Amino acid sequence: MDSVDTALDRVWPAQLRTDRLLLRPVTREDGPLVSELLTDDRVRAHLGGSVTEDRVAARQAAYPTTAGAWTVVRVADQRPIGLVTIGADHRCEGRVELSCQLLPAAWGEGLGREAVAAAVSWWTDAVPGGGPLVAVTQKANSASCRMLEAIGMTVVDELDEHGARQCLYTPAGDQDDSDLRWFRLLAARRDAVERRRGAQARATAAGQNLPDDLAALTPEELARLCPARHGAYGRICARMADHTPDLHLGRAQDGAWIAWLTTADA
Ligand SMILES: CC(C)(COP(=O)(O)OP(=O)(O)OC[C@H]1O[C@@H](n2cnc3c(N)ncnc32)[C@H](O)[C@@H]1OP(=O)(O)O)[C@@H](O)C(=O)NCCC(=O)NCCS
Repeated sequence: MDSVDTALDRVWPAQLRTDRLLLRPVTREDGPLVSELLTDDRVRAHLGGSVTEDRVAARQAAYPTTAGAWTVVRVADQRPIGLVTIGADHRCEGRVELSCQLLPAAWGEGLGREAVAAAVSWWTDAVPGGGPLVAVTQKANSASCRMLEAIGMTVVDELDEHGARQCLYTPAGDQDDSDLRWFRLLAARRDAVERRRGAQARATAAGQNLPDDLAALTPEELARLCPARHGAYGRICARMADHTPDLHLGRAQDGAWIAWLTTADA
């Protein structure tokens, strides 16, 4: 699976149109909008408060070169009214995080949900292998929670961050294949962990004593090996049948050394 940044770079720049909005990449001319959003106490009420001038300048410089950062333009009067961003989630490799902030004058008309729904659909359609999408918002941020729930997102986790309880939302199953994406992500991560652990265990003295070519073993020798050789995904454990603890060490179908723990599906 590509990293989120790589996947985003491939489809950026992108422009999205909804009934009332245009989402287009942020430009340098959007500096005043960025400044207003970052320093308005109402906008920042659940985002850690107003930020310093340095931070405003840094964001003004960064947004125009950041894939996944849109300015939300109200089509009726062509005014920039907010930002929507899609970018790598720093909490979890492979996950993408969505955020939305609008100027208070634009609140209460359903524009937030219109913008966010467009961004979620775009991510699902334009970046099929892009990884699961999440939105994290303070539990106390009822406007944001209602907005995410109105477009069918659901809470799948809660966490404490920046001194506040946060809800982690994902799109509902019928809006995209997020369940499948989670499954693929977890499977890919498990595989990587097992391969890393396998290479490490093979490098130990005990690991080096294990037979290299399992296919060349006689039926008698094979019979003395751990029965986990019949485990899932073509794994073959090369350790002896009575080994403890339950860390199996052997070969994956493609020959790589892997180590895995006994689980219900192994
Ligand atoms: C979160 C935020 C983007 C929501 O923006 P918004 O446009 O006001 O939110 P919504 O799209 O949910 O719409 C708000 C209201 O408009 C109403 N509405 C919906 N569609 C509408 C339409 N077509 N016409 C008129 N009103 C409409 C809804 O009833 C909704 O009210 P409700 O939540 O009581 O049902 C905005 O409050 C904000 O910028 N907050 C500060 C930044 C922030 O905290 N962001 C969250 C971090 S991800």
